[in-house]
Amino acid sequence: MQTEEKRGVDAGIARFWHRLTDIGDPDPLPAHDLADTGVADALAVIDVGHRTPSAGAIHPHECYVVSRAGDGLALFQVDARARICRRLRAARSPELALTAANLPVPRPGEAHILVVTRPWLSMRKYGHRGFLYTQIDAAHLATSLLGVARDRDPRAVLRLRVDHRALSELLGLGLGLREVHSVVSFGSSGQPVDTDGWTGLDARDADPLAEFQNPLELACRTVIDPQLSLSDEPPSLTPRPISLATAAASAEPPSGTWTELTRLRKSSKQFRPGVAIPESRLTQAVAAASWRLPIDLPADGIELTVVPQGDRRATMRACMLQRHLGDAGAYVLLHTAHDELLDHRHTLHEMIFRAGAVGHLVYLGATAAGLGVTGVGGFDGPRWLRIAGLPADHKVLYVLALGQDDHTGTKLDRLQPAYAQAER
Ligand SMILES: Cc1cc2nc3c(=O)[nH]c(=O)nc-3n(C[C@H](O)[C@H](O)[C@H](O)COP(=O)(O)O)c2cc1C
Repeated sequence: MQTEEKRGVDAGIARFWHRLTDIGDPDPLPAHDLADTGVADALAVIDVGHRTPSAGAIHPHECYVVSRAGDGLALFQVDARARICRRLRAARSPELALTAANLPVPRPGEAHILVVTRPWLSMRKYGHRGFLYTQIDAAHLATSLLGVARDRDPRAVLRLRVDHRALSELLGLGLGLREVHSVVSFGSSGQPVDTDGWTGLDARDADPLAEFQNPLELACRTVIDPQLSLSDEPPSLTPRPISLATAAASAEPPSGTWTELTRLRKSSKQFRPGVAIPESRLTQAVAAASWRLPIDLPADGIELTVVPQGDRRATMRACMLQRHLGDAGAYVLLHTAHDELLDHRHTLHEMIFRAGAVGHLVYLGATAAGLGVTGVGGFDGPRWLRIAGLPADHKVLYVLALGQDDHTGTKLDRLQPAYAQAER
């Protein structure tokens, strides 16, 4: 090999080797005192509210906070699992961005939590279906944050019809790898919040694009149809209490218990085989689906059908042969007419949101009723339609399995292979 060519190869190998072996300092940032930044209430909400179900326990989303600090508006990125709160430099004026996004500028004590999706994290495991899971996971998170925030401040609201472009600019999400999903807004509870367990870091001088350089993540973005990007907005609506499921009666969520139910909630890994669910408990769990929540969406709900356990082999097959799900006592199908779903790109996003949000309410209802529950993303939609006798032109968006929790088993979808997605 020519010496010059060899030197080029050596330099290439050295760079590659460096990437393999040097993972760098996880957070080479100066500490930041979180006192007087107005972020404490948001941290208290996120601390509990982020404990949500997620396909494969991947949690492909992030939380950002805008609050009023002593010196104006402050922007933070919150990593709830690591309990790190990074102060960011806003990529544009927060006042202008919030106003453009139809959001009120927070007064002292008020804050917005921005839920941001990062589809790649789910799509690298589940392929295209990971995009659906990302949206459902984010709906769980947004609903959970809203409920926990309402326990602290009854005026808390959730908005989806915000100007996503303005908020993306505020966060500096230039490459489209992350997308703003929704915004939870609330005021302070007035109770003191202890931020001692959190690490505050000052990232205002860090390169905001440094973490967006993964070529695999860029490639993932290219398979998402640009039509699905939320670039232009449907007419904005004022948040008001609505029921997200089509149901005869809607009800107020029980006040003050959401936070407690969120702490108790978990996904069942195994149901007790052959044990029927008492009718009253099933009714209590499903009734939660029609809790009214203050959201800026039209009141068209997603349809909900309860399927009692019948032919165990058939229901297990409809759950992509996930054995543990065949022992459930009943299933909740969340579905809608296909045409309605594709009427407009916002209908698609908003209907998937309703599926995830109603799924979240069923989780909380089942927890209150003492029933085991798990969300199911690995399902065969047409098969479920046939089992439930539903019209063939409907699409099932999400399934929940309910039963007597056996408190044993392993959550197989947390394993690396995406076994229930027809991946072989
Ligand atoms: C969109 C979605 C799809 C899911 N799909 C399945 C599934 O097909 N099978 C299963 O056993 N669990 C499924 N789960 C449950 C997750 O495994 C569970 O939420 C995750 O392991 C975290 O556990 P936790 O809910 O107890 O916190 C799903 C959850 C969500 C939100």
